[in-house]
Amino acid sequence: MKIKEYMLTTNEAKAVKSIVLEIEKKQENRLSWVLNNAKVIADKLPCGVKKFIYDFKVNDKELGVCIKGNLVDDTSIGNTPSDFFTRDEKSICTNEEIMFILYSELLGFTFGWNSIQNGNIINDIFPMKKDCKSATSAGSAYDFGMHTEDAFHPYRADYLVLFGMRNPDEVATLISFLKPDDLSSETIESLFKKEFVVGANVGQNVTEIEEYTSALFGCKSSPYLKVNMNNMRSLNQKSKEALFKLNQALLNNTFKYRVQQGDFLVLDNLKTVHGREKYVPRYDGTDRWLKRMQVTNDIRKSRDIRRSASSRVLIANQMLEKEAAFIK
Ligand SMILES: [Fe+2]
Repeated sequence: MKIKEYMLTTNEAKAVKSIVLEIEKKQENRLSWVLNNAKVIADKLPCGVKKFIYDFKVNDKELGVCIKGNLVDDTSIGNTPSDFFTRDEKSICTNEEIMFILYSELLGFTFGWNSIQNGNIINDIFPMKKDCKSATSAGSAYDFGMHTEDAFHPYRADYLVLFGMRNPDEVATLISFLKPDDLSSETIESLFKKEFVVGANVGQNVTEIEEYTSALFGCKSSPYLKVNMNNMRSLNQKSKEALFKLNQALLNNTFKYRVQQGDFLVLDNLKTVHGREKYVPRYDGTDRWLKRMQVTNDIRKSRDIRRSASSRVLIANQMLEKEAAFIK
């Protein structure tokens, strides 16, 4: 099993749900309140869950982990959305979103981008008819190429987290990684050179960073990845060939993971790349619906593009770059 799983016992699932219901009962379910208090509340999560997440984080060995068996009421969550909506940090979280934040805050600090889904920190992933052919999370008629989430940006997430609201057709998330012997040392040397321009995914209203960077970084015997096969350029023929070999290795190592209702999936965004195969949506309110967030180990490194020290929204597009002058 490439993604290590933790199945909640019935008692653990009930305990998690009761923590969430307590927050709802006290009407403390505003997004900003939940974010500001999540670390203290998450301390009440079952010990087995906390150990599972902390071991993953500290040992830095697994590609990803999944906590399964969370209680999601298919009726109360309502229909799978058909379009994005706007909300801010004062908005009310659903019970499932509170659960999602509590788990995520065991890993680090959750954050979002102003350029994605109207700046909502919690993104909704579902098929959208008008975007069905786009290379975005809403596209369904498109094989979404393998990528590190926000590979183009220096403040990209350490972890990508998903929470399954429903997935009746078992649409798979595609995940890949690099094995130690996949590439020659010469190819790895090439990929460590700053000879690549990594672009953003289509549809992301962001300022591209036209700087040459490496495709791999960290330790050469076990490198971290920084790639977007949807949008990436090489400086010369040698780096182009190295990137081709890397892409081949990632394609060879691709496996499928089906996020089910109630699954909390964590992908290490430095060790894995991900994509999604195309599928045929129903567009009847019962389609695959996942919640998505980003988690960083260090929220302070992005202070120059956040409006306030406590804001979790990163400003990534040109329009707001002008506005962002006030931060400096
Ligand atoms: Fe992605």
